[in-house]
Amino acid sequence: MGKALDGVRILDFTHVQSGPTCTQLLAWFGADVIKVERVGAGDITREQLRDIPDADSLYFTMLNGNKRSVTLDTKNPHGKRVLERMIRDCDVLVENFAPGALERMGFGWERIQTLNPRMIVASVKGFGPGPYEDCKVYENVAQCVGGAASTTGFDDGPPVVTGAQIGDSGTGLHLALGIVTALFQREHTGRGQKVLAAMQDGVLNLCRVKLRDQQRLDRTGVMKEYPQYPNDDFGDAVPRAGNASGGGQPGWILKCKGWETDPNAYIYFIAQAPVWERICKLIGREEWIGDPRYATPNSRLPHLKEIFAEIERWTMNRTKFDAMAVLNRYDIPCGPILSMKEIASDESLRTSGTIVEVEHPVRGKYLTVGNPIKLSDSPTEVTRSPLLGEHTDEVLAEFGYSNDEIRSLRVAGAI
Ligand code: COA
Repeated sequence: MGKALDGVRILDFTHVQSGPTCTQLLAWFGADVIKVERVGAGDITREQLRDIPDADSLYFTMLNGNKRSVTLDTKNPHGKRVLERMIRDCDVLVENFAPGALERMGFGWERIQTLNPRMIVASVKGFGPGPYEDCKVYENVAQCVGGAASTTGFDDGPPVVTGAQIGDSGTGLHLALGIVTALFQREHTGRGQKVLAAMQDGVLNLCRVKLRDQQRLDRTGVMKEYPQYPNDDFGDAVPRAGNASGGGQPGWILKCKGWETDPNAYIYFIAQAPVWERICKLIGREEWIGDPRYATPNSRLPHLKEIFAEIERWTMNRTKFDAMAVLNRYDIPCGPILSMKEIASDESLRTSGTIVEVEHPVRGKYLTVGNPIKLSDSPTEVTRSPLLGEHTDEVLAEFGYSNDEIRSLRVAGAI
C-alpha cells in the first residue's frame, strides 16, 4: 500500500529531540527523510545517555527510526556543493540549529530560494521574533517560558516541569503540521515558504487553558474549580492547581489499594456531572443526591476536597485496575496512573502499533514508539534508526554522484 507522503524528499538537518520528532513523524507517513549528520560525530544524542557501550543510545534510536543517515561536512567547500545539489532536488529542509547557524553555513532563506524556489524551509527555534530570538533553548526552558512550569505542581511547592516533552516533541508536532500545510499550499502556488515553530509558542498553545484562567482570574478574582477555593488566596497570577482537572468537570488523583508501597497505586477520578447520582450510590452516599449542598455542580464546588476524600475511601479498598473496571461499568470517567514499566508491557499498545519492538544491528532489540496517528490508507511500518552515515553512498548515488566522485569526496573529508 502507498503512503501519504510518498515522493516527498526531506533534507533533515535536525538534532537532539524537537526537530527529530517532526521528521520521524513525516517518515512514518512515508516521506523519504535524509538525515544529514556531522562527519565522524553525528547527532550528539547518539552518544548521550548510553546504556550499551558503543551502541547508539535509546535517546537517538527512539527519535530517528525510518530515516536514512548521510554524513556531510557542510562547512567543507566540497560538502557545500553536495548540499547545493541536494537542496535543488529535495522538497523540504528541516532544521533546529541555534539561531543563525544555517545562515553561518551559507544557506540562509534567500540562498535556498535561489537554488530551489519550491523548497520549504522549516525551523524549530526556542523563541519567535523578539528580545530572546537569538537564545538557545532546551525542553525545560521552553516549559518555563511557555507557561507550563508556573501552572504545574502544588500551591505550596516550586514550579514543576512535566515529564511529557511538550517543548521538544510538542513543537516537533507543530512543525510537522506546518510542513504538510506548506506542502499543500505549494500545490496551488508552486512556491516554497518558511515555516517556523517556536518552542515558547508551542508550549503556550498547549497551555492555552491557563491563559483562559488568567483572564477569568483577572475578571472575577476566583476560580471555583481550583483547590485554592474556597479557603485560600488566589494572588494575581494563575496558581498551580495540583491535580485538579483543567476543564469544567472536577477531577483529582486518588489513592488505591497498595499506595503505601507502590508509588503508582492511584487513579484519576472525574466527578462528571451527568454521573453524579451513580457516584453517590457507588460510594454509599445516596443522601448526597437530594442534599442541596451537593445536588448541582456549582453547589458541589466548595465541597470538592470532602467529596474526593469520600470517594478515596472507596478507591483505597480496590486496586487501580479493579477500580477502573467497576467505574467504567457505571460510565464514570477515570484512568489508572500507569507506570512506564506497565506501559512497556501493555499488550494492547503493542497490538495497535503504538509501542513497537525493532531489531538494531548493534544494540539488538529495543522498544520504541510507533506512530500515534493512524491513517487507514497509509499504515506505518516502524523501522530501526540508521547507523551514522549508513546511507551516504546510496543517497549520493541517487543524487547523481559516481563511485569515483564519492571516493574523492571522502578523501576531501566532505562526507
Ligand atoms: N557539518 C558541519 N557543521 C555542522 C553540521 C554539518 N553537517 N551540522 C551542524 N553543524 C554545525 C552548525 O553549523 C553549528 O555551527 P556554528 O555554531 O559554527 O554556526 C554547530 O554545528 C552547532 O549547532 P548548534 O545548533 O548551535 O548546536 P548546539 O549544540 O550549540 O546547540 C541547541 C544545541 C539545541 C541548544 C540549539 O541547536 C538550539 O537552540 N536549537 C533550536 C531550539 C531547539 O530545537 N531546541 C531543542 C533541542 S531538543
